Amino acid sequence: MRQFHKLSIARLEHETADSVRLSLAVPAELQAKFFFQPGQHLPVQATIGGKLTRRTYSICSVPGQWPMEIGIRVQPGGKFSEFVANELKAGDLLEVMPPFGQFHASIDPGNARIYLGFAAGSGITPILSIVRALLEGEPKSRFLLFYGNRRLRTTMFVDDLYALKNRFPERLQLYFLFSQEDQEFPIFDGRLDQEKTEALCDTFLRGLAPDQAFICGPDTMIESVRAALQQYGLRDEEVHTERYGAPRQKAAPVDVRRVAADAEATQVTVIMDGHEKTFSMTSQHGNIVDAAAAQGIELPYSCKGGVCATCRTWVREGEVRMDANYGLEPWEIDKGYVLACQSHPASRKLVLDYDKT
Ligand code: FES
Repeated sequence: MRQFHKLSIARLEHETADSVRLSLAVPAELQAKFFFQPGQHLPVQATIGGKLTRRTYSICSVPGQWPMEIGIRVQPGGKFSEFVANELKAGDLLEVMPPFGQFHASIDPGNARIYLGFAAGSGITPILSIVRALLEGEPKSRFLLFYGNRRLRTTMFVDDLYALKNRFPERLQLYFLFSQEDQEFPIFDGRLDQEKTEALCDTFLRGLAPDQAFICGPDTMIESVRAALQQYGLRDEEVHTERYGAPRQKAAPVDVRRVAADAEATQVTVIMDGHEKTFSMTSQHGNIVDAAAAQGIELPYSCKGGVCATCRTWVREGEVRMDANYGLEPWEIDKGYVLACQSHPASRKLVLDYDKT
């Protein structure tokens, strides 16, 4: 069952003036549950101002390292991030759900690959875990990391990255870009847009053929970098992306299945950890997560905005309509995965399998 566990805060350090690194102690009996792939994230929840509030944060440590660490950018007015930065301290308990997420690297010691990484701002958090795990776990692979920020003093994990560069000087190429601070070479000034990505790849790939790329940042940056990478021989499935923040423009609804035009009740069965629960809902009940909660069935969710994919599930039987999708890749849609927080039944019977990965 994907449920929240109370974990103790081992350390809380300010990474920059506007970001923190939170270390969570995971007791031995929970370590198997909290095992993760580099790049995955954690839903966390706390009651703030009397209201249960959830967020999802990426893990910046590597698998097998305890306590596990997450990186949090503290947004001005950000309810959860300000709560963490200003009110929590070592020894406090935080409710945390086990890690998950499709944005991750699979380590194979036999690989001899060229990896590219593009991170904007706090998008470095999962990428840091990925770079470190790949360099440690694949002795013949190389990584070129391009990391964009406004300026050096707001750049997260600078020391960790330089330490990695010192450990793997031959296999890690590390490039910082700043949009509000001039650097010695103009190629490192500005943002990671399509033109800049092409210039960086032309300059630093020098004929190398990349095998995979990992991109983490806001929506517009991801699409720009992805568009640029198409020229360097990377197929869609070799470009892994993770968005943070809300999309700038609301996307048109994504119809993964034909929309049912009636309000008759649907029997929804959810399969989780091998157990089945069934409830009834109509198109008037809103999304599947809310309809289940109204009947006492807690399904996983965090953002409820179609971004974090905490609510990802697989349609084993039946049809749904999704309002929006910013968290699933096209191949996941093709295979029948949906975001339950954005989904409404479009058939009389619906079976959702949360165990299918
Ligand atoms: S809860 Fe975040 S996408 Fe559904």
